[in-house]
Amino acid sequence: MLRDVSSCNTYNYGDAWYWDARYIQESGSFDWYQRYSALRPFVRKFIPTSSRVLMVGCGNAVMSEEMVKDGYEEIMNVDISSVAIDMMKRKHAHIPQLKYMEMDVKDMSFFPDDSFGSVIDKGTLDSLMCATDAPMSASRMLGEISRLLMPGGIYMLITYGDPNARMSHLMRSVYNWKIELYIISKPGFEGKSAVASLKTCLEPIPLSENGMLPPDVVLEDPDCHFIYVCRKTNGEPTSIAAHPLTGDML
Ligand SMILES: C[S@@+](CC[C@H](N)C(=O)[O-])C[C@H]1O[C@@H](n2cnc3c(N)ncnc32)[C@H](O)[C@@H]1O
Repeated sequence: MLRDVSSCNTYNYGDAWYWDARYIQESGSFDWYQRYSALRPFVRKFIPTSSRVLMVGCGNAVMSEEMVKDGYEEIMNVDISSVAIDMMKRKHAHIPQLKYMEMDVKDMSFFPDDSFGSVIDKGTLDSLMCATDAPMSASRMLGEISRLLMPGGIYMLITYGDPNARMSHLMRSVYNWKIELYIISKPGFEGKSAVASLKTCLEPIPLSENGMLPPDVVLEDPDCHFIYVCRKTNGEPTSIAAHPLTGDML
């Protein structure tokens, strides 16, 4: 089953108690937005199987398990919900490549700097963006992800948020991320290209100077998901201008 928070109609998505209650009620497995099979081309293209992966806000998705079946060697899964983490720990006790820890993505000080080759986020920044204090929470989460990524490492964000809603948070100069954007159709609409001018969803979307969709890029399918591939650079200038976190965003 696939769910979506694009309507963003609850302010509880950032609270552990909300997710605990939800995972007690729904104890099976659920993947938000997309399954690994649809994301695989992007994951395999940007994340080597030997990379130490951090899955932020893993929930009870099967994504990590499917990645291990596909050859990924080490995935550290964190989530603010102790219910989800306990459940997943028990379920995957026999899979040594999968590790689980209860953790708030806004404070991952348990891990030293440069601990991971890649970070995958499917729906977790979106949850924080729906909650109260959204810009500050997003900034703390993204700051932690930037700290934990090795130079050259990849933060892959799978979200319903278009560049208008996400770029100002991602393009802060402190992170020094070189960002590429891909767009994929929601499950059930795979036959259709989300962008009129592109033959395949594996082509990056051309972005304007300030990281927005240029006017000639027409979204055929407004019901799509965005994949931001953010590569941590060594401080060399990024291809698109970086935005500081300004007062109006806070
Ligand atoms: C929309 S669900 C996505 C779950 C999973 N990534 C997937 O693709 O199915 C968001 C997840 O983020 C977790 N979450 C929300 N706020 C968090 C926080 N501050 N720190 C860690 N996890 C958080 C929730 O418990 C929930 O499991």
